[in-house]
Amino acid sequence: MTDLYPVPEAFAAQANVTWADYERDYAESIRDPEAFWGRVAQRLDWMKPPTRIRDVSFDRQNFQIRWFADGELNVSVNCLDRHLATRGDKTALIFEPDSPDEPPQRISYRELHARVCRLGNALRNLGVGKGDRVTIYLPMIVEAAVAMLACARIGAIHTVVFGGFSSNSIADRVRDSGAKLIITADEGLRGGKKVPLKANVDGALKLAGTTSVETVLVVRHTGGAVDMQMPRDRWYDAVVDGQPDSCEPERMNAEDPLFILYTSGSTGKPKGVLHTTGGYLLFASYTHWAVFDIKEDDVYWCTADVGWVTGHSYIVYGPLANGSTSLMFEGVPSHPDASRFWQVVDRHQVTIFYTAPTAIRALMREGEEPVKRTSRTSLRLLGSVGEPINPEAWRWYHDVVGDGRCPIVDTWWQTENGGILISPLPGAWATKPGSATLPFFGVQPAIVDAAGNLLEGECEGNLVIMDSWPGQMRTVYGDDQRFFDTYFAAYPGMYFTGDGARRDADGYYWITGRVDDVINVSGHRIGTAEVESALVLHPKVAEAAVVGFPHDLKGQGIYAYVTLVAGEVESDELLKELVAHVRKEIGPIASPDFLQWAPALPKTRSGKIMRRILRKIAENAPDQLGDTSTLADPSVVDALLGNRRGA
Ligand code: WT7
Repeated sequence: MTDLYPVPEAFAAQANVTWADYERDYAESIRDPEAFWGRVAQRLDWMKPPTRIRDVSFDRQNFQIRWFADGELNVSVNCLDRHLATRGDKTALIFEPDSPDEPPQRISYRELHARVCRLGNALRNLGVGKGDRVTIYLPMIVEAAVAMLACARIGAIHTVVFGGFSSNSIADRVRDSGAKLIITADEGLRGGKKVPLKANVDGALKLAGTTSVETVLVVRHTGGAVDMQMPRDRWYDAVVDGQPDSCEPERMNAEDPLFILYTSGSTGKPKGVLHTTGGYLLFASYTHWAVFDIKEDDVYWCTADVGWVTGHSYIVYGPLANGSTSLMFEGVPSHPDASRFWQVVDRHQVTIFYTAPTAIRALMREGEEPVKRTSRTSLRLLGSVGEPINPEAWRWYHDVVGDGRCPIVDTWWQTENGGILISPLPGAWATKPGSATLPFFGVQPAIVDAAGNLLEGECEGNLVIMDSWPGQMRTVYGDDQRFFDTYFAAYPGMYFTGDGARRDADGYYWITGRVDDVINVSGHRIGTAEVESALVLHPKVAEAAVVGFPHDLKGQGIYAYVTLVAGEVESDELLKELVAHVRKEIGPIASPDFLQWAPALPKTRSGKIMRRILRKIAENAPDQLGDTSTLADPSVVDALLGNRRGA
């Protein structure tokens, strides 16, 4: 039997959403989505309120996804201007630097508004306008949020690239998006280590050759030396200083693009996930309010990086649209020691804390003492995101971090979703460790078998969503066909998530992980195809196959099988060189955890690599290989078993 954690009574008494609210409104949100979302849309400030609510069809024939299609609004006005009268002096962002010895900063809504306006004006002066793309490659500093909001103000489409990506990955994204301008910093700082951001951008632009990029704005952050190439490169301060602190917001249609964010899939290069203005902002702000039970005085901290969708929706757009105080942390959980998160919680009296299972597992390994030496009495709600949370980590989070007092929201969603789709509403129903529980308003999850048959009641299979929600991605940038093929072709009329899931007797959902060739490493999505392409770019590699394997801290690790070109010799030096090569091609986040030499790969007679077998070897389950008789050469498997991880 799984244990059930009921809603604490005191929490229920003050909750934004009760069980009665959910039962009533969820039913309406499915029965009459027009009425439901039309009403919820009033939480935003529209320049022109929408009269059309939804135009949606997942069918190949009339395929379209549009929400609030005749509405007009500006995202930065919703995140800033409309709070000035009542919350001008309220702290919008708390900046907690990498080093605890540096002073934190508090930026009021008024100050943030002024900074966004100054940058918006500067961008316009540099020739950036509505529909232009801007790449943002910044550390977790206030300028990252300012840059996103300044783009939104003038209608430019931002594309944030995580600081853990290499020059190559930046080059791909700049090329694909056709960015006109890049905003970066001299260096980033993480756990006392410097990240050469500007140098990475220089490398990317060299690799990309002639690009659309006209200007690189450089924030002076660490003061480290950088190579400024005039007139392309400009200091951020120099272009922003002296700009007026008001800036006319662009009138945007609800369906105008807000941002592109690249994410890995099972095939090919990362896809540019495109989110638009009205539906995205509404969904980010409404889920943030309901799932995190946001109140006026909360101090809310999401530890994600703004380079991921979690940072977009739940550090910047959701919280600021709700007029909340959102904390941005530049550093890492282990620096200077394993107590850092909780010291930051105490220092800023954080009430709501949202992190990833990988961080919880890493801290759990350090024992209770680093937690217990802090007070954490300000905390009232905890959240988890990025991968399934194992029940052991869930209980530790609940019992040790939350002192048994705080509900946990295990929030399941994806870059493609814009916001949370399945999660507890903390004041409404009981939780179970490891389950994301029930769907958010307007979200209709279902489970299908491989043939696409809908399964009823208790079951396990592939997770699909039956209808649209406002935060849904609208297309793959520049490739509508790929959008349809990736998400709507497998099961006609449904959105396929790529995840497996189980539904229990209470109707609770348990996400079991990806069912496609995507690996979830510390909550980051890595396409096996991308790592394979990177490996075969190396002149000594003939062939490579990459799979995931269970990893104690990361959830999944990256396991690479490599066949060398005839005549090349396997060696530890070459192994290190190949790992370094992947880091250079994609970035440190894609480093293989284990690389195994494969004299040959297991293939069917038609030449298809049998990944099922490679996964089982990587999982260290040689007794579960299943039928190998269809292999062209079954003896290949014995060779691989001989030098596998753990053998
Ligand atoms: C994949 C999406 C948007 C969240 C950050 C990651 C996995 C995410 C959970 C959860 C189980 C989860 C899924 C999903 N995932 N949250 N609470 N429980 N699995 O966004 O990079 O787009 O990855 O992360 O496998 O498909 P992403």
